[in-house]
Amino acid sequence: MVSFRWILAAILLAAAFPSPGADYHQPPPLDAAPQDKYGDLVRMGHAIVTDTPNKASRYTGPGNRLSCTNCHLDAGRKGDAAPLWAAFVAFPAWRMKTDRVDTFDERVQQCFRYSLNGIPPAFGSIELIAIASYARFLAQGLPIHSETPGRGFPLLGKVGLDPNRDRGRTVYRQRCLSCHGEDGTGQAGMPPLWGLGSYNKGAGMANIPTAAAFIKANMPLGAPVLTDQEALDVAAYMNSQLRPPDPRQGLLSIFR
Ligand code: HEC
Ligand code: HEC
Repeated sequence: MVSFRWILAAILLAAAFPSPGADYHQPPPLDAAPQDKYGDLVRMGHAIVTDTPNKASRYTGPGNRLSCTNCHLDAGRKGDAAPLWAAFVAFPAWRMKTDRVDTFDERVQQCFRYSLNGIPPAFGSIELIAIASYARFLAQGLPIHSETPGRGFPLLGKVGLDPNRDRGRTVYRQRCLSCHGEDGTGQAGMPPLWGLGSYNKGAGMANIPTAAAFIKANMPLGAPVLTDQEALDVAAYMNSQLRPPDPRQGLLSIFR
């Protein structure tokens, strides 16, 4: 017979180690979107987020192979992978990068410009309205808040050593190469980490601490097991490879 003491121990353990994300906002499933004009835009936003090069081709960089969902995992639904629901209720907000208060649409424009190495969709364009409609749909029921649990990526702790790209190369070969490829440019169903089809040098992901935080929480996909140090090292390796220049700085930034 299972004793009461064991049941109590199990309950206490479960409370002490809640599964990550258990208390995060649960966005509604896509098929809960209404059958009206707003619902049509929600579905269009979902299509853009999951297939950006084809569904928003007039704004993505030439040859860029990334979709929003490659970084904003599970079509922008997954906590700790910069979920779109947490972003939607956080803007307008001040950003260090621009040193001004940006709206949600402006924040999306920036991911087009840097993460997709493209051009910002015009204000009022159907693409921006569709993405905002989709994000609003995911955020249904959330209070306006700049620190919704699950927003962005969890911060890394302090590590003993500076990020090192040689150690990072070893991590890459052991933990990443099987999916992202020998030369980092991905393969069918696996997005490029570097090369001309990836994010440019001005992107958030081009920042080593930001990339390390994303990697630590999310990579290898489905089994994130790296230590903080390994995540920083592999981020340094990934971001030392060739990629498109920062559009604010011109071609020479390739060699930065
Ligand atoms: C190469 C990876 C990548 C791609 C592709 C990408 N983003 Fe991002 N995005 C980021 C990173 C990194 C951040 C910054 C997250 C942070 O610092 O917490 C970000 C931030 C955002 C934010 C603000 C999040 C917040 O909580 O403040 C929004 C909104 C956003 N992206 C929308 C999009 C949309 C829409 C697309 C597709 C059109 C897209 N992104 C494509 C990497 C990417
Ligand atoms: C099991 C296969 C797999 C492994 C192993 C893996 N990834 Fe990924 N990675 C993916 C997939 C698939 C995506 C896109 C996720 C999506 O679209 O749902 C992705 C997305 C990414 C992205 C954001 C998109 C981009 O191209 O910039 C980065 C950065 C990344 N992975 C880094 C890493 C690093 C570093 C490692 C090793 C520590 C790693 N991955 C291991 C499959 C993998």
